Amino acid sequence: MQTTFLLNGESVTVDTSPTRTLLDWLREEKGLTGTKEGCNEGDCGACSVMVTDHAGARALNACILFLPQLEGKAVRTIEGIAGSDGTLHPVQQAMIDHHGSQCGFCTPGFVVTMATAHLNGHADHDTQLAGNLCRCTGYVPIIRAAEAARSASPPDHVDDLPLLFVPNTAGEAPEELGAEPPTSLDNFAHWYAENPDAILIAGATDVGLWVTKQFRDLRQVAFLSRVVGLDGITVKPDSIRIGAMTTLSDLQREIAPLYPSFGELIRRYGSVQVRGAATIGGNIANGSPIGDGPPALIALGAQLHLRRGDDSRTLLLEDFFLEYGKQDRRPGEFVEAITIPRAGDHLRCYKLSKRFDQDISAVCGCFWMRLENDRITEVRLAFGGMAGIPTRAEAAEAELLDRPLNKTTLAAGIAAFREDFTPLSDMRASAEYRMQAAQNMLVRAFAEARGARASVLEVGP
Ligand SMILES: Cc1cc2nc3c(=O)[nH]c(=O)nc-3n(C[C@H](O)[C@H](O)[C@H](O)COP(=O)(O)OP(=O)(O)OC[C@H]3O[C@@H](n4cnc5c(N)ncnc54)[C@H](O)[C@@H]3O)c2cc1C
Ligand code: FES
Ligand code: FES
Repeated sequence: MQTTFLLNGESVTVDTSPTRTLLDWLREEKGLTGTKEGCNEGDCGACSVMVTDHAGARALNACILFLPQLEGKAVRTIEGIAGSDGTLHPVQQAMIDHHGSQCGFCTPGFVVTMATAHLNGHADHDTQLAGNLCRCTGYVPIIRAAEAARSASPPDHVDDLPLLFVPNTAGEAPEELGAEPPTSLDNFAHWYAENPDAILIAGATDVGLWVTKQFRDLRQVAFLSRVVGLDGITVKPDSIRIGAMTTLSDLQREIAPLYPSFGELIRRYGSVQVRGAATIGGNIANGSPIGDGPPALIALGAQLHLRRGDDSRTLLLEDFFLEYGKQDRRPGEFVEAITIPRAGDHLRCYKLSKRFDQDISAVCGCFWMRLENDRITEVRLAFGGMAGIPTRAEAAEAELLDRPLNKTTLAAGIAAFREDFTPLSDMRASAEYRMQAAQNMLVRAFAEARGARASVLEVGP
């Protein structure tokens, strides 16, 4: 498959297997070995590269990024961060000044992520660097370096956005550089209906690992990044429509002002590198019982839009998940979008994982409780990690609906979780721990509904 993109400012056209990763290609074909391979599964950030498209620059993990995902985009590796005359980027200089590197293995990844955050003016360094692991320096000098570089302007050469357009001398609108014409949604829908065995690749944060860890031969694949009209969020007074290809980063930006608790949940989803690639459509379609998107969306009452050829259908998201590994999706059918009905903000989302950042949930509980005069008039409690699929706690909901927000109702709701769930024990948590965590989340939801403020990042009195 042929792909054209910019590499450190120069146009390149690559013709390789569609599932060749950018990391392998950089190191093996281009000799650009500054980009390191640590985990090869999106966890450590040693392979971070800056990828720019029309929406701006993002740090992504090159180890789970297939070359065709780069069509028409720009890639900047650690080799392209300093100026062509050798002048260091401000974050590189700051890393030296603040002793931000010891063995140096993680340093190229850190520098690329820091340079991307610096270009975008992001100063929430803990969040920006949560996807970069350092085993020997420790984070304090690195965060100091990021802080010190803040006041310097980004050098012009790291901004690839202007290079994505070829100026048109006839004075017409500039053309996109080297990009193959994208496929229309209709064309793709018909093609997939006729080729239902093809594997769809969205952000590749799951599919990438099938290749790098399971060494699977994917045979026929289709890159949804090449289909127009699958991304984007439309906010209307009564609904929010989220295209399947919307990345978790874009979703976070749009959703956080409307549902801050959902925004905070997404902040703890993977890392900036993962959120910049992973899509909400992939997070639903993979059917994982521990994905973070579905519980929040189910609690919000979201509907799922599926399409096969010319046929479209809509169902409640909770009805999509049938049993572990089985979804209500026909061959050749794909996730087109999700719609959330808007009815104020009565949502609280809690993620429990062993690490605060960059970790999969042991339990993710999302609580929609509308109150009128201290009575619960609407309730949806949705969980990940408590069953083989993301699912609602219907027995607990029945104990809460139309009841006052008090200790008796809470106790009944807590007890009813045992009717709703028989969780599993696995490496993330035991069954009993999961049950107790879910019950405690309801306690927290009640306390917060009563105006208490709880933060897992603070020690309270
Ligand atoms: C380091 C790391 C950290 C992670 N952390 C989290 C986390 O905190 N929370 C969490 O929930 N997940 C996490 N994940 C898992 C992963 O990010 C999600 O499952 C992700 O949303 C998948 O989306 P994607 O676009 O990358 O999907 P892909 O990997 O491209 O595809 C996933 C599956 O969905 C199918 N698919 C994709 N799009 C569509 C569509 N539109 N229609 C039909 N089928 C489709 C694909 O064929 C494939 O079967 C993490 C992954 C990694 C590697
Ligand atoms: S090598 Fe670890 S994230 Fe890519
Ligand atoms: S400097 Fe050694 S891992 Fe970070």
